[in-house]
Order: sequence, then C-alpha cells, then structure tokens
Amino acid sequence: MKRFLPLLTIGLIFLGGCSLEKPPAKLAEEIQKAEKPKEEAVAPAPAAAPAPAAIPTDPALAEGKTVYEGGCNACHDAGMMNAPKPGDKTAWEPRIAKGEETVIKNTINGLNGMPAKGGNAALTDDQLTKAAKYLISISK
Ligand code: HEC
Repeated sequence: MKRFLPLLTIGLIFLGGCSLEKPPAKLAEEIQKAEKPKEEAVAPAPAAAPAPAAIPTDPALAEGKTVYEGGCNACHDAGMMNAPKPGDKTAWEPRIAKGEETVIKNTINGLNGMPAKGGNAALTDDQLTKAAKYLISISK
C-alpha cells in the first residue's frame, strides 16, 4: 500500500488533467474569434451619430451633419493637421472664397492632409457634398 498510494495520486492527477484539456468555453471563444471579421465586413457605413443640438432645418444639411459626425469630426473638431474647425470663420473664409465647387471637389478627392472622401471610401459623392455644404453653412 505504501508504494501504491503515490502511484494512485499521480494517476488521479493525470486523469484530472485530461478532462481539463478542452474546456468548452475556450472552444466557443475560438469559434467567436473566427467569425468576428465576417461580422465586421458586413457592417454598414458608420452609424448615424446621435444628433445633439442645432440640427439644420434643411434635410440635406442635416444629413451632412450626420455624415460629418460619422468620422470627419475626428480631425476637424480637433483641428488636426490644421483641418479647419466647423464654425471657425477665419479658417473657412479663404476656403469658401475658392468657391463651393472647389471645396466639394477637395472633399471628394482630398487635399494635402485631408484624405480623399475624408478617409471613408464607403461615403458617396452625394453624402460628401452634403457634409461639405454643412460645414460651409455653419462656418460663413
Ligand atoms: C485625417 C483627418 C481628416 C479627416 C478624417 C477629414 N478631414 Fe477634411 N481636412 C483635413 C485637413 C488636414 C484639411 C486641410 C487641408 C489643407 O487645406 O491643406 C481638411 C480640409 C477639408 C475641407 C476644406 C477643403 C478646401 O478646399 O479647403 C473640407 C470641406 C473638408 N476637409 C471636409 C471633410 C469631410 C466632409 C470629411 C469627412 C467625410 C473630412 N473632411 C474628413 C483633415 C481631415
């Protein structure tokens, strides 16, 4: 018995180890990980941001505001790389002076630090035009 006991103990530890090898929770986690990229690829363009105060009455400008708040604001609200801040009349004046068509064209095609389509390829020219018009409307 003296010799048998340690062997039995080791045997039990071994058996215990075996049953823990593939906990179902870990398997489920792996399956979830494998499926995640698919969900992201299917996800549509940025969701409409919750609209706070001052929603433009013109529905086109209201849509422009939603587009703007869906990602453009990341640079423009902070004035990153000299991105003109919404409502900053001094920053916008020389831009607006170039003509609305030019500003819209630059929004679609990019300009220096401003990436084409504001870096969101999912946006249509129509949405970008509305976002540019919204920015102009609150900055002049
Ligand atoms: C990565 C940062 C970044 C993002 C995101 C971004 N912009 Fe810009 N934007 C800039 C910078 C920087 C400039 C200034 C470019 C310059 O004049 O050199 C600019 C300039 C502009 C201008 C002025 C163009 C002109 O002709 O003077 C408009 C309009 C504009 N952005 C609209 C948008 C819209 C709409 C979006 C979202 C769809 C957007 N931006 C997203 C950085 C950004």
